Amino acid sequence: MKNFYLTTPIYYPSAKPHMGHAYSSISADVIARFKRIEGYNVNFLTGTDEHGLKIQRAAEKQQKDPKNFCDEISRNFIDLAKKLNLTNTDFIRTTEDRHKKTVSKLWNVLEEKKEIYISKYSGWYSVSDEAFYNEDEIETKADGKVSKVSGSKVEWMEEESYFFRLSKWQEPLLKYYEDNPDFIAPISRKNEVISFVKSGLKDLSISRTSFKWGIPVPNNNKHVIYVWLDALTNYISALDYFEKKNKNQFWPADIHIIGKDIIRFHCVYWPAFLLAARIKSPKKVFAHGWILSGEEKMSKSKGNILDPLEIIENYGLDEIRYYLMKEVIYGEDGKITPENLINCINSDLANNIGNLYQRITSIVHNKLNSSIPLCKPKDNSDLKILNLVEDNLDLLIKTFNKYEIHNYLKDIIQLCSEVNKYLNDSAPWSLKNDNLEKRNIIIYTVLEFIRKISILLQPIIPEKTKIILDSLNVKEDERFIKNINKNFSIKPESKIQKINILFKKQ
Ligand code: MSP
Repeated sequence: MKNFYLTTPIYYPSAKPHMGHAYSSISADVIARFKRIEGYNVNFLTGTDEHGLKIQRAAEKQQKDPKNFCDEISRNFIDLAKKLNLTNTDFIRTTEDRHKKTVSKLWNVLEEKKEIYISKYSGWYSVSDEAFYNEDEIETKADGKVSKVSGSKVEWMEEESYFFRLSKWQEPLLKYYEDNPDFIAPISRKNEVISFVKSGLKDLSISRTSFKWGIPVPNNNKHVIYVWLDALTNYISALDYFEKKNKNQFWPADIHIIGKDIIRFHCVYWPAFLLAARIKSPKKVFAHGWILSGEEKMSKSKGNILDPLEIIENYGLDEIRYYLMKEVIYGEDGKITPENLINCINSDLANNIGNLYQRITSIVHNKLNSSIPLCKPKDNSDLKILNLVEDNLDLLIKTFNKYEIHNYLKDIIQLCSEVNKYLNDSAPWSLKNDNLEKRNIIIYTVLEFIRKISILLQPIIPEKTKIILDSLNVKEDERFIKNINKNFSIKPESKIQKINILFKKQ
């Protein structure tokens, strides 16, 4: 079985999880589930990023020891993963020993390879972003200096620091982007990264002495390791990269899913650290856009934070998963509003997929004593619908694997509309005794379509498709893409189980 390794960003647990975090995780889960039904052995990692000044200050504010503070608040993200029905195979916390051990080891490797030197840092630092900014990236606002890149407040920092020889990796990085044209996706982000690297890379400060909450620099515990060097390493520490060679079958990662605000760290610093340590770089970094609340980015100060748990409670989990993946173009910003959400649930889920299932199964229950009819479609109009999914399958798989998940769903919904029309036009409910064979053929054809489309929708709406596939008696091990073909068709004369309404109209 082929391996597939994907990751979410690891979240700062200091803030309560919001819809933006949920979006990163849901989209990664959709990909993980899709790769599984394609037949891959998937390793799916998520977790929390628990070191650094930002967390230390948040703990101090509540007069808590930072480790106890993190133990408490990282629970929010562990719980969220469960609420979102994520199929992550691991959850890493950067305060775990397995992680700290790997970060120290990576530091030692970089030091042995003379990629690190000690000097003095003076410059601007944003605690909120845990990022250094150049003078030309700073502007003065009424309440002080802020980063032009993120808008967050910066403070002047001056202290002894270890540096990573980032400048040395400028050309090798540019070559890496050229040799691996699919490394940065979507394409629009790639140009942004290349022009940043071309504008000149300075060596990077990778340790701090003015606070303690971090992993100590090996052999000099006056310093703690820069939180981004620490955090990025989670992707290999979860594999116990330096210890268990057998787990390295998953490295390099197939895809890191991130938000567009953390591209520089993942597409510049991370591959540079890895190149310097002579470790392979990930195959792809995919940067999704912002989830906007109404027209704006969510922020505490604007008071427009969308709470994923509340939204799930009101509308249902599969409904939200579907809405986010269909209505937000993957890779671009997308505003979400209750009106759009309700519209999407009603038109795609309730009136299209749900209605198709309801109409066809109610005839089976009412007229056929719940039994799937035995029949062989032979008219072209029926065969066209029977083969609709297979005829479009290659294209659908390609679309998904380009991470055009919104188009994948748009295409599936289009097929559902076509089948709803077929059902309206052929009206099996009106066929009488002299035409029962035709009626049965229509029923069978539509049920087969529903079986196939449900297999393809599992990654996005896993709970509802499970209900459908269970009701059609499709075996658990026959729910992969390879089972879409007719050799695995629904078994005539088996009984369809009755279920409640699939999608409630809002
Ligand atoms: N801890 C770092 C990531 C380290 S990865 C080695 C971090 N954490 S975060 O909690 O601030 O953000 C985590 C992810 O949530 C980022 O990918 C970020 O883009 C995403 N989002 C935060 N707000 C968002 C939206 N409003 N919309 C979409 N995603 C956004 O950065």
